[in-house]
Amino acid sequence: MQHDVIIACDFASAEDTFRFLDRFSTESKKPFLKIGMELFYAEGPDIVREIKRRGHRIFLDLKLHDIPNTVRKAMAVLSHLDVDMCNVHAAGTVEMMRAAREGLTRPDGTRPLLIAVTQLTSTSEERMQRELLIGASMNETIVQYARNTREAGLDGVVCSPLEAGMVHEACGADFLTVTPGVRFADGEVADQVRVTTPARAREIGSDFIVVGRPITAADDPVAAYRRCVEEFLLTATDR
Ligand code: C5P
Repeated sequence: MQHDVIIACDFASAEDTFRFLDRFSTESKKPFLKIGMELFYAEGPDIVREIKRRGHRIFLDLKLHDIPNTVRKAMAVLSHLDVDMCNVHAAGTVEMMRAAREGLTRPDGTRPLLIAVTQLTSTSEERMQRELLIGASMNETIVQYARNTREAGLDGVVCSPLEAGMVHEACGADFLTVTPGVRFADGEVADQVRVTTPARAREIGSDFIVVGRPITAADDPVAAYRRCVEEFLLTATDR
């Protein structure tokens, strides 16, 4: 099973992004990057092509959630961008996720990894129940959304690292867990709620951790990235 740290490039412009990426130019391994809504809406598909040209793997995090036909067509457009991973909201239903997979699959049968967001890591169980009227517990909701995702033929889910173990239990070891909500033990939590450290995320079963501000807002982002890789990829069990 492949494991890696994905840096969330939550920047407002290509200029800010490349200023950040230039710091990594001497790294032997090009970091896996996540491009989200902010950067994609600001710069369009060209930013994806340019980052790909620089040799990075890309998780295009646009979290599609619409009627199945619209999602199928949007994914067909995204299939032309040579990204490695993209995603939808599992709340869009199994039918929508199936449509997403169909749209993303190229004529030769290949496609990027496709995963689904279960519940955002900024959502607490209390808000999910009170505002969204989801009566089940957070854990039951995550497992049900993950099962739906697997039924639709997707490759895995986005969830909190705290939920990675139970998702693997319900959906199998090969079903990917991509987990934001990662913080250093001595770092700030900000707006994230269901968080843990890189080492603990690995122990619980995360396949990929998505880390934004602990790296992008660090005084030395390269050192923060290296620390993250070290803690995630070289956990106590591997040493
Ligand atoms: O800065 P931080 O480490 O909190 O960034 C986490 C990234 O992961 C952000 O880009 C956010 O949009 C994304 N994300 C998340 N929770 C999810 C899905 C995606 O935090 N459930």
